[in-house]
This record gives sequence, structure tokens and C-alpha cells, in this order.
Amino acid sequence: TDIDAFIAGLPKAELHLHIEGSLEPELMFALAERNGVAIPYASVDEVRAAYDFSNLQDFLDIYYAGADVLRTRQDFHDLALAYFDRAAADGVVHAEIFFDPQTHTARGIAFDTVIQGLLDGMAAAEAKHGLTSKLILCFLRHLSEEEAFATLAEAEPWLDRIAGVGLDSSEVGHPPAKFARVFAAAAGKGLKRVAHAGEEGPPEYVHEALDLLHIDRLDHGNRSLEDAALTARLARTGMTLTVCPLSNVKLCNVASMDVHPIDAMLRQGLRATINSDDPAYFGGYVGENYRAAAHARGLSKDDLTMLARNSFLGSFLPDADVAAHL
Ligand code: ADE
Ligand code: ZN
Repeated sequence: TDIDAFIAGLPKAELHLHIEGSLEPELMFALAERNGVAIPYASVDEVRAAYDFSNLQDFLDIYYAGADVLRTRQDFHDLALAYFDRAAADGVVHAEIFFDPQTHTARGIAFDTVIQGLLDGMAAAEAKHGLTSKLILCFLRHLSEEEAFATLAEAEPWLDRIAGVGLDSSEVGHPPAKFARVFAAAAGKGLKRVAHAGEEGPPEYVHEALDLLHIDRLDHGNRSLEDAALTARLARTGMTLTVCPLSNVKLCNVASMDVHPIDAMLRQGLRATINSDDPAYFGGYVGENYRAAAHARGLSKDDLTMLARNSFLGSFLPDADVAAHL
């Protein structure tokens, strides 16, 4: 349709993408074979059939198991470049991608192996597509503060290649307050800060992410809408929300795309963006997220232009680069 063509032609930044969540079943099988790793699925179709989730934890269990096929620097390069190829095809010109080092170091894969492979993939994407990117190191919030500090220490030699830190994994029961000290340490090293909050957790977790983690960007943030004063604060301060429509529906945080609040967020003056979260698991890359939201919610071309513009305004690019993309 006309809207689909308009979306395809919009230059975009992607600000909420877990690189481990871009592992397509085909690559999972190929890496399992290359590395001699057993996987509990007989076929690609069987893998896709397993992607039927009723909440975040359901998904996380399968997502962490899938990551076990990632072993070598080459694997992380291949994973990243496969994502960037898909992103470039959707008009993404800049991506700020999350990685979860603890998912790998817990299995005996060195931090350096992971980050070197990802940096190789990022360099390849820039050479191949002109697509620029940044890395955001996420702490797994179901693990301890001490383990987060150990991960930050492992990142020390790479700090000039890491734009910021984030917070992901099981939200409820692991409030932002648990990581206030490690985020303060990251800030002291000059790192930006983002956190998943208000995906499944209550508005109180968004308040904590703002007041205790001093975040520069809010990942998801959907449940902020339950708190009018919080919504007004996010709008007034120009906080960017990295919203992930297909993820919200697949994880049953929104009943269906027909009732997704993306348009309500824009009407309330929030700087919302559209992103893919874990595209291999949730049924689509960033273009599909734009299309699904646009069709279900009747987004106009002005709305879509605003969403794409917000993605650059909310990025960690220098002001001159942001201006060049607007
Ligand atoms: N890790 C990968 N995707 C995630 C999500 N949507 N929420 C929390 N942790 C995640
Ligand atoms: Zn996420």
C-alpha cells in the first residue's frame, strides 16, 4: 500500500534491539551444526512453533536457551551482520544495539570474544550498507548487583567502544533500585544509561529508573500511561520511549495491535519511537513493526514521520549527526 511504501522510504534509527533476539532459526541451526551443539528442535518449523509466549519469562527461557549456539567471534559477527542486513533493507541507517554479556560469560564464552565479534559485524555493516551503530551493554536484572559490577569490570578495556549500559531480563521482582550503584558507577565512566521499565512492571519502576538510575532513555515504558503525572513528566522532559509493538503483543502485554497505545503516546506528547526488540522471536523487524502499528492504529504519514524523527532525536549520535538525519 501507499503507507507501506512511505514507511519503506523513511530513514530510521533503531534504538531497542537485543542482538541475541535477532538469531533466526535458520542461523541457529547453522551455528548448532558448525559448533557441534545439540538443540532441542528437529526443524526450523518446530523452532518457530515454540515461539508462542504468554509473558516475558516464557520468552526469556527460550531466548537464553537459543543463545547457547553462539560460541565464537565469527558467530557473533555473523549474528550481527545478519541483523544489519535486515535492518538496512528496512531503511535503518543507524542502530544502537543491546548485548547481554552475562548470557555468554555464564557459559564460559569470553567477554572479549562476544564484543570483538559484534564490533566486527558493526564494521562490516558500515562498509556494506553505510549503516552506523553503537553498542549498549545490558545487565541481566535477575542476576545480582555484584555480578553486574563484575560485568562492568570486564567491559573496562572496551569502554571507548560502548555507548552505554542498559537493564533487561525479568522485570517484576527486580526493580531498578537494585542497580542504582552500578548505574552510578557506569555514569562515572561516561556511559549513557537506559533501562527497560514499565514493560510488565508498574509505573513505580519507571519512577525508579528516572530518579535512581538517571536514565537517558526509557525502554518500553508502556505502563507509564497508568500514571498521569508520570506521563506528563516524561512528555515535559522530552524522554525518549523505545516502544516495541510486535513484542508487546507477542508477550501479551497488549491484548492486540488494534489496542496498542502508540498513537495515544504521540497524542500525549511523548517522544515515542518504534523498534523491534527481538525480531527473530516476535515476528518482524523494524519495518514490520511500523507497518503493523500503522495499519492497526491508522497512523498518518505525519505520525510516521514523527516516529522516525524521534528515533534520531532519541539516539546517542552527536547533535550534528542527528541534524544531518532530520
Ligand atoms: N531481553 C530481551 N528482550 C527483552 C525484553 N523485551 N524485556 C526484557 N528483557 C529482554
Ligand atoms: Zn527489550
